[in-house]
Amino acid sequence: MRYGRFDDRLREYVITTPQTPLPWINYLGCEAYFGIISNTAGGYSFYRDARMRRLTRYRYNNAPFDLGGRYLYIRDNESSKFWSPSWQPTRTKLDRYECRHGMGYTTIGSTCNKIEAETCYFVPLGETLEIWRFRVTNRRKKPAKLSVFSSIEFCLWDAQDDATNFQRNFSTGQVEIEDGVIFHKTEYRERRNHFAYFACSGKLAGFDTQRDTFLGAYRSWDSPAAVERGRSFNSVACGWAPHGSHHVKVSLKPGETKEVVFVLGYHENPVDRKFDPPGSQTINKKTVRPVIARYLDSRNVAAAFQALKEYWDGVLGIYQAQSPDPHADRMVNIWNAYQCMATFNMSRSASFYESGIGRGLGFRDSNQDLLGFVHMVPARARERILDLAATQLKTGGAFHQYQPLTKRGNNDVGSGFNDDPHWLIIGVAAYIKETGDWGILDEPVQYENEPGSEQPLYDHLRRSFNYTMERIGPHGLPLIGRADWNDCLNLNCFSDTPGESFQTTTNKDGKVAESVFIAGLFVLAARELAAIAGNRGMAGEARRCVAEAEKMEKVIYEHGWDGQWFVRAYDDFGKPIGSKVCKEGKIFIESQGMSIMAGIGLQDGKARQALESVNKHLATPHGIVLQQPAFSRYYVHMGEISSYPPGYKENAGIFCHNNPWIIIAETMVGNGDRAFDYYTRINPSAREKIGDLHRCEPYVFAQMIAGKDAPTHGEAKNSWLTGTAAWTYYTATQWILGIRPDYDGLLVDPCIPKAWDGFTVQRTFRGTRYQITVQNPRHVSKGVREILVDGRKLSAQILPVFKDGKTHDVTVVMGK
Ligand code: BGC
Ligand code: NOJ
Repeated sequence: MRYGRFDDRLREYVITTPQTPLPWINYLGCEAYFGIISNTAGGYSFYRDARMRRLTRYRYNNAPFDLGGRYLYIRDNESSKFWSPSWQPTRTKLDRYECRHGMGYTTIGSTCNKIEAETCYFVPLGETLEIWRFRVTNRRKKPAKLSVFSSIEFCLWDAQDDATNFQRNFSTGQVEIEDGVIFHKTEYRERRNHFAYFACSGKLAGFDTQRDTFLGAYRSWDSPAAVERGRSFNSVACGWAPHGSHHVKVSLKPGETKEVVFVLGYHENPVDRKFDPPGSQTINKKTVRPVIARYLDSRNVAAAFQALKEYWDGVLGIYQAQSPDPHADRMVNIWNAYQCMATFNMSRSASFYESGIGRGLGFRDSNQDLLGFVHMVPARARERILDLAATQLKTGGAFHQYQPLTKRGNNDVGSGFNDDPHWLIIGVAAYIKETGDWGILDEPVQYENEPGSEQPLYDHLRRSFNYTMERIGPHGLPLIGRADWNDCLNLNCFSDTPGESFQTTTNKDGKVAESVFIAGLFVLAARELAAIAGNRGMAGEARRCVAEAEKMEKVIYEHGWDGQWFVRAYDDFGKPIGSKVCKEGKIFIESQGMSIMAGIGLQDGKARQALESVNKHLATPHGIVLQQPAFSRYYVHMGEISSYPPGYKENAGIFCHNNPWIIIAETMVGNGDRAFDYYTRINPSAREKIGDLHRCEPYVFAQMIAGKDAPTHGEAKNSWLTGTAAWTYYTATQWILGIRPDYDGLLVDPCIPKAWDGFTVQRTFRGTRYQITVQNPRHVSKGVREILVDGRKLSAQILPVFKDGKTHDVTVVMGK
């Protein structure tokens, strides 16, 4: 069953029932102020950091799920009936319901008792606030007298503390109410210099700021006492649970529409100007008042919404494609690109599955996210690279995560994931290929955020490379450390204590267990580093990288080839993992994808053979599982991977993140049909028709689809924040459609289904626009016969970099 439809023209997904299998969410904000919002207005907001600056509350894993949000209630003052125009939280039957998730905004519209309502939620560019533009229309034949109540629950900033430290928190809450604006100022009296505000353009009939007064004791969000009786209590919170609710009366003639704007925002004051008058305890509102006034004006709201639309036109316009496949097109042109913005901003921190408390920005995750983001806003990619590099350890290793607010490495998670440093090389390479900005390599960047430790960024890349060279195991392969890309392959953990973190527990000295995956990644990164060094005139350094890559390649052939596929790792006993000699976990996906992407086995048929093995043992109609056979029990020497029941997550789930590695590998060997088939299997748009099985949003990729060993094979989980976003985008645009930035220009190297007649791409690259038409008259998958640029034949496959800011026509004819 379908729960909605794509509206590609408006770049929206239209959800036609509030009762989706799971909350289907969207993100508000793309710079500093963010929110998640579900199709029934559930969700919360935060400034920069979902843990440390949370504005509103949300209770994860609640029953019913998805409670806590940006709620409005409409009350008919004649009949006393009330309902939520977003369905939740009253869940009153609506006569019409439609949620449109768009690029940075969500609009929820409904009709109930002949009252039509439409609320558009968005964050204006450049602001740290969100707008709820509420429109209400009377579809009755007689006048309507309504009350509208807003409702949000303030979070006491640190989301972790907010959910646990009640002995303190029940006594700290403070608000101010001035000119109808509710200010949330808990802890402002002491060390915070920020507060939240909640304003409303309508004339207030009342307000509430104490949650339990608004709701009434033992009542829930579906029947707040204030709404039921039709009048606010004008409660002023002190301690307990600060809340924001306005009450506005709206009278409507038949057919009449009125608009009420609500503004929820975050504001900081200079530390020495927190109070007004100075010496008092009253918030200084001098700089926030004009911001509030601006957005309570409907004209400014309309202009800000238009600006947001234009922003997205620009961002998405950088790469547009028209292929014979509508699912691929809407992912490439709209949703996958949009998801890449969310993963860039959020990493894995805040979604319906990530509480915003557990994880900051991952080192490897954020570097990989760049692959799908760098072309959209290169300046922000640059800033991210420098921030990440500044957390790098002097050893070349990396803090596994950093906190977005402080931009500092997170000590609780620590380091020792031995793949981490290489992703910095991959991220920087992608950035330079896109922008040609070689200067980034000269930027002085600290180590471990220590002033005085600055070295050029290039030095960081060199230390990343050396990090592996200094950590080689008994077979000559890289030592795995706590884990590699697969966070759950914990070969040095040996934990037998319930609840102990697999990520941070280490009981072995780490001198034996090795990773073939890191070996492949090392080869890939070393070749990039060689290209970078060569380009900078450091021939000796380039030669060293190439030599080490070749050496590692030999080791992979010797100890990393199992006969029909690549081995995955060696455990602490020196025994292979991912080999025919294993009982379970005989073949893994990661080392196949990574080795081939690094170019290993392309010459001698091993790559093809490994890909055949993947097809035979790992491919399912719903995507490619991570390994087979699944682990049937917990193995202390394997760690978290064997903690999951078979078919879920890293234990033989379809971990979508690394499906694209296989797809890229298939394009490298020229298998366009299979590459595209694999791509389509996990493409959420193509899976829309099996919504009851898939269950997650059909417009974004999920981290995981349950594998063939799971009773729920085909069910997706952990949507939105996943490396799948960047990798599938990168795969579709650069390897299938094959329009691939390289150091010296834009490479054209498609690998498509044979049946395709061709496709077109418009790409802005280093300031010029390329209008590319690819023709496939001989129905091949790969191979370029001829390229014409502005009518002139090009001898290479790389489109030149024009510095003229113009549009250039490119015709590509495929064939042998
Ligand atoms: C998950 C991994 C994740 C890790 C670190 C594990 O529980 O299965 O996918 O990378 O936690 O957050
Ligand atoms: C999710 C994590 O965010 C990522 O870093 C890791 O590579 C994958 N899980 C696989 O374990």
